[in-house]
Amino acid sequence: MATINDNYLKFKAGYLFPEIARRVNTFAEAHPEAKIIKLGIGDVTEPLPEACRLAMIKAVEDMGDRATFKGYGPEQGYAWLREKIAAQDFQARGCEIDASEIFISDGSKCDTGNILDIFGNNNTIAVTDPVYPVYVDTNVMAGNTGVVNDRGESEGLVYLPITAENNFTAEIPSQKVDLIYLCFPNNPTGATTTKEHLRDWVDYARVNDGIILFDAAYEAFITDASVPHSIYEIEGARDCAIEFRSFSKNAGFTGTRCALTVVPKTLKGKATDGSDVELWKLWNRRQSTKFNGVSYIVQRGAEAVYSDEGKAQVKSLIEFYLENGKIICSKLQNAGINVYGGVNAPYVWVQTPKGLSSWDFFDKLLQTCHVVGTPGSGFGAAGEEYFRISAFNSRENVEAAMQRITEKFKV
Ligand code: MLT
Repeated sequence: MATINDNYLKFKAGYLFPEIARRVNTFAEAHPEAKIIKLGIGDVTEPLPEACRLAMIKAVEDMGDRATFKGYGPEQGYAWLREKIAAQDFQARGCEIDASEIFISDGSKCDTGNILDIFGNNNTIAVTDPVYPVYVDTNVMAGNTGVVNDRGESEGLVYLPITAENNFTAEIPSQKVDLIYLCFPNNPTGATTTKEHLRDWVDYARVNDGIILFDAAYEAFITDASVPHSIYEIEGARDCAIEFRSFSKNAGFTGTRCALTVVPKTLKGKATDGSDVELWKLWNRRQSTKFNGVSYIVQRGAEAVYSDEGKAQVKSLIEFYLENGKIICSKLQNAGINVYGGVNAPYVWVQTPKGLSSWDFFDKLLQTCHVVGTPGSGFGAAGEEYFRISAFNSRENVEAAMQRITEKFKV
């Protein structure tokens, strides 16, 4: 009989969001009359921008004509898309990123997991607590962790607590770590960072020969001019950071699938023989072998995000969700509930009322208000007395959910 990857046996539960969906479905089957409002997984609800739709329709027509038909595309993505990204997302902000350093993919979730393919198994890896669970779970699958303790922490990872006391921004570790996952604007806390804080991380990584895996999937929600959008706004980051970006949350591509990863050509890792190796070459090799690129149609849709119409339409989508975030924050605050985030980010990090544990609050909210959120402990032990509410939903649902919650949980 074939043997299995035993690392999967280390998991104590299923992946967070399907696990929540399972509980919600069980409740819904037992209470078919309940009008459940889902503010759990950060999934968009508003339609795709018209500019993207029109570009995709045109691309479908291209596929119907022998003269413009496309077969396999470049594994790294089409140059016309990568050039627009390089110019508008990076160079326009003073970041020295070339189109050839951008790899188009089908998602940041996939890329933040797949990136482990190019790293060894003997790295010291740091994650924040709470954290986007993909970073931890993919390290478990890769065999980079040991047993899971009672707090749900995997042996072998360095956990950096992010709490209200440190404004949900991790302190620079006192020990040397090789890989550090950072996510700003942060999932799940909705916190943002400053250039000074990122500079400290870049300095730390350069001194310690570490690499920062910087997840900027929510950068489009930044409206405050002082908040950095990219790690490459910090001098020296080209030598110590990989950045992940996505079209999921800005242009509503969660079901359409398009994202990008930046691997600067100056970024190096160590081989076992002690030599320095360009990580760009390894990621390029990995993508060329395991990935056939994102469809032409979807890449044309993503390209439209950079047109004047596309930019205006994306801006209004972002403003719509940010307004939802504002409503969530103000309604909960008025009810005496402590909230964080929700500004420059689509997530509101709520302190559970009445000292409830995060899963108890989840159950109570589902049963008494028919509202779904995400229990903070699903993101790590430090999330135990927190609960994440996503701003991705219709205005009507957000308002109805806040009405229901504040009636029940006013303190
Ligand atoms: C979340 O809810 O944290 C996100 O939707 C997850 C994801 O983007 O994969």
